[in-house]
Amino acid sequence: MILRWLVGVLFTLALGCVSVASWVVLASEWHFRSFDRPAAFALAIPSDAAALSRGDHLVRTRGCRGCHGEDLAGQVMWGYAVAPNLPALARSESGATLEAAIRHGIGRDGRALFSMPSYNFVRLRDTDMADMLAYLRSVPVVEKALPGASLPWSVRFDIARGKDAAMPAYVPRVPPLRRSDDPDPRMARGEYLAMTTCNECHGLGLRADSPWEGETAPDLVVIRAYDEAAFRRLMRLGIALGERELPMMSPVARGRFAHFSDEEVADVFAFLTDMSARAAAAEAARETRR
Ligand code: HEC
Ligand code: HEC
Repeated sequence: MILRWLVGVLFTLALGCVSVASWVVLASEWHFRSFDRPAAFALAIPSDAAALSRGDHLVRTRGCRGCHGEDLAGQVMWGYAVAPNLPALARSESGATLEAAIRHGIGRDGRALFSMPSYNFVRLRDTDMADMLAYLRSVPVVEKALPGASLPWSVRFDIARGKDAAMPAYVPRVPPLRRSDDPDPRMARGEYLAMTTCNECHGLGLRADSPWEGETAPDLVVIRAYDEAAFRRLMRLGIALGERELPMMSPVARGRFAHFSDEEVADVFAFLTDMSARAAAAEAARETRR
């Protein structure tokens, strides 16, 4: 009698577990497949020397190697995500397929990506996108055995109950470029650089406005404390004001931003300083209204 009751309870429990697990898988997979492909990228991929060198500069300063490996041949990130072999993909896939992944977070199988930071690249200009693809096609292919990706249950569970989302849900939240027509050309150039490099960590709009919990990069109005020479030192050598070595910013600066040209450093500094002054003015106006 008791035995039969126990079997019944165990059976119900097992059935419960299986249904929850199936719901998590079905709901998360439905989410991953719920995003439309963007309109096909139409630019031809160039192959001239100027395009390759521009593409090389973009790949270095936008940090693709940090996740896809020094040889770009792919690696496992955070123990579960698998950043694929880019030179190999650049040869097997069309420019449109790669662009959908890089700028919109839609993978080559039409399924949304989760870990690839497309929000950081969505504002890249078409010509820069084409030059980046040109460069990736020119990098020698190194064959590397990579394991299959498997998303942790905790991530799937958060997605299933709507607490987290795949990359294409975040990409549209990146603010538009606002300074493209500014009479001071440094504003347009600096904003473009900051909104395709710094906003990977400093918030979608550079103001510590990250949609993810636990981000530690500050609002970039912190630039106020810096003069141009100190900022240049941070970008070139990774040394922050007061001779500080910062846990994340310092190695990131040395790895990526040391490759900025002098003009690029000056443009980012001019734009961020102006952004910070505008933020202070807006704050002061709010204070007086109070
Ligand atoms: C923060 C880590 C990270 C950075 C930085 C990064 N990627 Fe990725 N990328 C990934 C991961 C992980 C994947 C695998 C898909 C996933 O898990 O989202 C991926 C996937 C891709 C894909 C293939 C998508 C598909 O169809 O399967 C392409 C193409 C790609 N990345 C290009 C780039 C380029 C170009 C750059 C630099 C401009 C870059 N990535 C920077 C982590 C990164
Ligand atoms: C990969 C993530 C990442 C990227 C990309 C990044 N930062 Fe940072 N940055 C951080 C983090 C995190 C901190 C906080 C200190 C730390 O933990 O290293 C920081 C701190 C800073 C600081 C404060 C330094 C101080 O005096 O304390 C400045 C200024 C800064 N970043 C500027 C930039 C600029 C400009 C860019 C773009 C060109 C940029 N960062 C791109 C992660 C990043």
